[in-house]
Amino acid sequence: MCGIVGYVGKRNAVPVLINGLKRLEYRGYDSAGVAFFDRDNRIGVRRCAGKIKDLESSIKREKIKSFTGLGHTRWATHGRPSEENAHPHRAGGIVLVHNGIIENYFELREDLKRKGHVFTSETDTEVICHLIHSYSKDGRSFEDAVREALKHVEGAYALGVINEKEPDKILAVKKDSPLVMGLGDGEFFIASDIPAFLKYTRDVMILENNELVSITGKGVSISNLATKKPVKKEITKITWSPTMAEKGGYRHFMLKEIFEQPRAIADTIRGRISPEKGVVNLEEFSMKAKDLEKLSKIFLVACGTSWHSALIGKYMIENMAKVPCEVDIASEFRYRNPIIPKNSFIIVITQSGETADTIAAQREAQKLGAKVLSICNVVGSTSAREADSVFYTHSGPEIGVASTKAFTTQLTGLYLFSIALAKAKGILNKREIKELFSELLQLPEKVEKALHINAQVLKIARKFSQVHDFLYLGRGINYPIALEGALKLKEISYIHAEGYPAGEMKHGPIALIDNNMPVLALAPDDKVLEKILSNMEEAKSRGGKVIAVATEGSTKVLAHASDVLFMPKTNYYLTPIIFSIPLHLLAYHVAVLRKCNVDQPRNLAKSVTVE
Ligand code: M6R
Repeated sequence: MCGIVGYVGKRNAVPVLINGLKRLEYRGYDSAGVAFFDRDNRIGVRRCAGKIKDLESSIKREKIKSFTGLGHTRWATHGRPSEENAHPHRAGGIVLVHNGIIENYFELREDLKRKGHVFTSETDTEVICHLIHSYSKDGRSFEDAVREALKHVEGAYALGVINEKEPDKILAVKKDSPLVMGLGDGEFFIASDIPAFLKYTRDVMILENNELVSITGKGVSISNLATKKPVKKEITKITWSPTMAEKGGYRHFMLKEIFEQPRAIADTIRGRISPEKGVVNLEEFSMKAKDLEKLSKIFLVACGTSWHSALIGKYMIENMAKVPCEVDIASEFRYRNPIIPKNSFIIVITQSGETADTIAAQREAQKLGAKVLSICNVVGSTSAREADSVFYTHSGPEIGVASTKAFTTQLTGLYLFSIALAKAKGILNKREIKELFSELLQLPEKVEKALHINAQVLKIARKFSQVHDFLYLGRGINYPIALEGALKLKEISYIHAEGYPAGEMKHGPIALIDNNMPVLALAPDDKVLEKILSNMEEAKSRGGKVIAVATEGSTKVLAHASDVLFMPKTNYYLTPIIFSIPLHLLAYHVAVLRKCNVDQPRNLAKSVTVE
C-alpha cells in the first residue's frame, strides 16, 4: 500500500504535492519522492529513503517552481526501502508513480532487458515505465502508449504518468487500487485518497477500474482504457473533516483496518499462486521446493496476535503437510533451551518485524543453526533483514495498536506456506491444491460479506459493553480465535476476558459462569460442532449469556444461544479468518461504547521494541 498524488494547476506544485503526501503518510512511509516539470519543461525527479519530512527538507533549498507534478509515499512490497526503489520511476521521458502490485513484473522485466532496457531499481513498478516508454517510441500518442502498455500488465495499479514531450499533462489510470480525482477552480488533483487534496477542494470524482483520465490545466477528460469511449462522471461533495478523511471516513484506524481486509488479503494472495498449474510461487517465500522436501520439524515463534497466527499455522501445517510443529511465545522460546533437531525450521511471525522478543528468539534460533522464515508486514524491518527467507504480508501499514488486517494476512501466508510444503512433500495432489486455491480466491469476497455483520455486532456490543468479564470458547483450529477475541477485547476495552479450548471449560472456568458472564462460542459447522453445542448448553444452563458465531445455514446453533452471528461458509483452514471478523468488530464497538482510546490503548505500543 503506497500513496500517490498528482497536481496540475496555478499553484506551485511541489508544496501541494508534499502536503498531499503528508496526508497519505498513513499508507506508507519508508521512502518518498516527487517529479515536476521545470522551467525548461524537463522533468525533475527528487527521491529519498525515509519519511516525507526528509524529502521536504532535502528539496527545500532548491526553491522549485512548477505547476505540474506527481508525488509518492512508499510502503515497500518489491525491493527494500531505498532511494533507488523510491518512486517516481523514469524510463526516457516517461515518469510515473504507482500504488499496487504487478504480478507478472518478472517476466516483463526479463523480456524488456532482452530488448536492451536497463533497470535501475528492484521494484515491480519500473517495468510499467519501460513498457510505456517503449510503446511511445513506436509513434503512438502518449495516451495510446499507456493503453498499449497496460494490455500487458497483470495485477493491481493506480498510476500517475507524465511525459516530457507533453508538459503540463498527467495521465492517471486505475485497476484494483484506489484513485480519486479532486476538481478545483482551474486546478486538478489525483490521489490514492481524498485527504491528499481536501485542503484545496471538496469536489471529488471516484475513479473506477479501467478508466483513463487525462488532466491538463484546461480540464479533464475520462475514457475507457480499452475502448477509448468517453466516460461521464458525477462530482461528489465531501463533507468529512480532515481527521475523519485520513481514516477514510471511519472513526478510528482500527475500524478502517478491519474493513480493509478484503483488499489486504487479495493483495497478499496476488501473484503468489498459479491456480492453473496448482503451484504456490515459492520465490515469494525466497525458497525452493528442495528446501521444503527435507523439512522434518517446524517451530512457529511469535508474540501476541502473531502468536495466535502461529497456533493456527500449526493446525494448517500439520493437517496439510503432516510436518510436526511446535509453537512458542517468543519470550519463552529464547530462554527454554529449545532442542532444534537437524532439518527443522523456524517460522517467526511479526507484523512490525521489530518486536524485541521475536527478534531475540529469531537470533537464538539462528545461533542454534536453524534457518528462519519471517512472515512479516514491514519490508526491510529487522526480522525481514536478518531472516533467511521472508514472506511479506501485503496488508499495508497497520496504525491501530490492535492488530486486525495483519493477523488475517498472516493466516493467508501460513495457508500458502502449508500448501507449498504439502506439495513439496507430495502429500497434496494437484486436484486437492486446486480446491484449496479455489476457496482462497473466494476469500476476499467472503470477508467482504462477513463484514456485513457489523450492525448486528454493534447491537450485541450495546448489550454487553458494561460487563466485567467475558469468556471466549473455541475448538480445534478456532481455539486460537477464542484467544484472539479475548486479547482484542482486553487490550482496547479493558474488560477482563479469557479464551479457552471449549472442552477445557469443565476443568475450571465453568465455576465462573453466572448470569453476569457472557460466553462467546465459536461454532462453525465442522466435525466438533456437536461438542461445542454441548459446551454452550453447559454455559446456558448455569445462567451464562451465550453468543455464538456460526456458519450460515447451520440453524441448529439457534437453540443454544441468545445471539447468533452467521458467517459465510469456507473450508476448515480459512474459517479462522472469517470467524475473527465479528470478534474484532465486537471488541471495537465495546471499546467505543466504553469511551476507550481505541487506536492507542493505555499502556500499549504498536511495536514492542523492549524486552
Ligand atoms: O509486530 P508484532 O506482530 O511482532 O507484534 C506482536 C504483538 O505485540 C502484537 O500482536 C500485539 O499483541 C497486538 N497489540 C495485538 O492486537
